[in-house]
Amino acid sequence: MRRYLPTLLLSVLALNTGWFVIYSGDLGVRGLISAVPGEVSRVFQDSGILANAGLAVHMIAGAVLTLGAPVQALPGLRRRWPGLHRRFGYGLFVLAVVTGLGGLVYIMLNGTIGGAWMSFWFAVYGVAMIWAATNTVYHALAKDMRRHFAWAVRFVVLAVGSWIYRMHYAIWYAATGGVGSNEAFTGVFDQVQVVAFFVPYLLIAEIILRMQNGRRHYSHA
Ligand code: HEM
Repeated sequence: MRRYLPTLLLSVLALNTGWFVIYSGDLGVRGLISAVPGEVSRVFQDSGILANAGLAVHMIAGAVLTLGAPVQALPGLRRRWPGLHRRFGYGLFVLAVVTGLGGLVYIMLNGTIGGAWMSFWFAVYGVAMIWAATNTVYHALAKDMRRHFAWAVRFVVLAVGSWIYRMHYAIWYAATGGVGSNEAFTGVFDQVQVVAFFVPYLLIAEIILRMQNGRRHYSHA
């Protein structure tokens, strides 16, 4: 049973991101083709073509990335079709760079709705995403599978981070009606969320990776 746990968790994760993948892809395409992008969403401005394009492209690339990363990590697919895993891995790397850079360009040109605190943490998230994707590919090319696996775990956590952010909001609003959150994203809950959607999950991943490494060392001693 334990053998199948990663497959089960990754499949449930991929299926649950479905609604956000469709939402993000649809918003990105409409933002890109609309003559009045400000009417599509508050994140687009009617002027500011570069910031709009950066954000719209990041939504489309990010949508594929959110679903693609957990699917790419499925153990059965990795083992049965290593060539596909390799090719799709390069694809995910490009998507991660486009998603991260698109978001970073928007932050630089436009800032974020929540101000400097949100802009800072979203920028950290974007840089971390590009860094994790780069290391995942780098260690795969260097045939260092232990490091490749560790970076791939961090990368999957970051790739689904944007979906986790929305899930935290959905659960919090259902449970409390939105205590500590407001439309300007300056409430206590909003300010905690810009860190809480990825940092704690990266820490949990780190603890599990270290426990696994410890066990491996022990069994080799
Ligand atoms: C992981 C895949 C990602 C997806 C699917 C995604 C999707 C989205 C969507 C749909 C929005 C529009 C807001 C909404 O309607 O909810 C958005 C906003 C935004 N995203 Fe992403 N995103 C991803 C990753 C990132 C990354 C890595 C960064 C960091 C550079 C980033 C930066 C931003 C920024 C700055 C905004 C606008 C915030 C505001 O002022 O409201 N996103 N994203």
